[in-house]
Amino acid sequence: GGNVKLVIVSNRLPVSVVQRDGAYEIREAVGGLATAVRSFLRAVEGGKALGLSEVVWVGWSGLRAEAETEEVRGRLREMGLVTVPLAGEEVNLFYEGFCNSTLWPLFHGLIVYTVFEGRFWDAYVRVNQKFAEVVLPLVEPGDIVWVHDYHLMLLPAIIRDAAPDAAVGFFLHIPFPPAEVFQLMPPPWRSAILDGVLGADLVGFHVHEYVNNFLRSVAKFLGYKAEAGAVYAGRRKVKVGAFPISIDFDFFYNSSLREDVAAMIKEFRQRLRGLKIVFSIDRLDYTKGNLNRLRAWERFLKENPEWRGKATFIMVVTPSRTGVPQYEAMKREIEREVGRINGELGEVDWTPVVYIYRFIPTPTLLALYNVADVALITPLRDGMNLVAKEYVASRRNCTGVLILSETAGAAHELLQALIVNPNDEGGVAAAIKRALTMSEEEQCRRIEAMQERIRQHDVVRWAVDFIHALAEAHLEAQEAA
Ligand code: G6P
Repeated sequence: GGNVKLVIVSNRLPVSVVQRDGAYEIREAVGGLATAVRSFLRAVEGGKALGLSEVVWVGWSGLRAEAETEEVRGRLREMGLVTVPLAGEEVNLFYEGFCNSTLWPLFHGLIVYTVFEGRFWDAYVRVNQKFAEVVLPLVEPGDIVWVHDYHLMLLPAIIRDAAPDAAVGFFLHIPFPPAEVFQLMPPPWRSAILDGVLGADLVGFHVHEYVNNFLRSVAKFLGYKAEAGAVYAGRRKVKVGAFPISIDFDFFYNSSLREDVAAMIKEFRQRLRGLKIVFSIDRLDYTKGNLNRLRAWERFLKENPEWRGKATFIMVVTPSRTGVPQYEAMKREIEREVGRINGELGEVDWTPVVYIYRFIPTPTLLALYNVADVALITPLRDGMNLVAKEYVASRRNCTGVLILSETAGAAHELLQALIVNPNDEGGVAAAIKRALTMSEEEQCRRIEAMQERIRQHDVVRWAVDFIHALAEAHLEAQEAA
């Protein structure tokens, strides 16, 4: 307590700055990391409730360095945010390159999307160093530095070397792949990545499966002794554990009580006139399984023609990483499939798929969670997936059915969902039918059990458990030194 500062470091700040008609607009960033850490900080009054003297968040603003003005930097600084400016070339080679064309697809097990390029790796090393140069002057002995996600896997070791008295934690927000998949990465890179992460006192993942994958890679590629919960890296002991990320339960559970949301729910219901709603929302990303989902929906409608005209699939997709070629290709494919299905099955007064491709404001999202009879969350692979938790938490009236991929981290916790394999088109189609015909008693039994789980394991618990485990690991490490 007292004078401990928490320094959060992530590639993307909780806000993104966009340039519009010459003016700068500051928006909430989308994605699991930003959403979770932001709602944790809100719940603990910016750290005050935990006795932290200050919280600083270091990251990228979303602008190219050339466009980041002193004025923008000042406005962010007032919000406790410190920027690491990325030049256009760094955005290409580091962010779009090594982060999102190498690590992202490989760690999600999508090997054919993965690109290995020396230029990307070199930029990754340079940008991790650049982050260190911004972080280090902020760190005083006794401070906590919490590094997030796959963009910054080299950073923990750099900070450890330069500021050995700081407690350094690392949390990965995406899956850690099986050793046989990680092995595809060139040996010098994969060793540097593992050693980089092991610079932390504590390394956290969403679920035990990823912990075990990581421990196996560490043993296999570095030869370190790895056992349940710890790695022995030379003379240092590094703790490793599972910390399932979560949501601000009450925020969603109480959403229908908000006036703005209640008005929208009412309006949606009037406009939908009794139509059953199947719903999904994701960032546009090939890991999210939108194509499989569309085909399963089509199959459901073809196998169950009595449901045509009675149910609609509202698929919201939020633009993301639009500079990465694989993402642009996915956008075109989704649009082609939506067009094909609507063209084949649509009627004058009924659209099988309502496709929305843009950012939607929070009140609208909350209203959609409330009117959706079924949430269809079928990623090919997903570290956790917070949308599944948000949907369940929003169902205050105890109705609604969650269909969830077994390949999402959330499936380890939301055991009462209808669990599917995203590639099993027939299985997903059958789950949709089961969801739309499920009795309200059964819906409520399942929703209640899942709500209880999320209520107990909310985002504050995630962060507080991690920070406590980190403080403990750091203390132990100092005593051993
Ligand atoms: C995932 C990643 C985050 C990332 C988010 C949005 O949730 O784990 O680190 O911030 O996607 O992606 P973006 O590339 O826009 O930051």
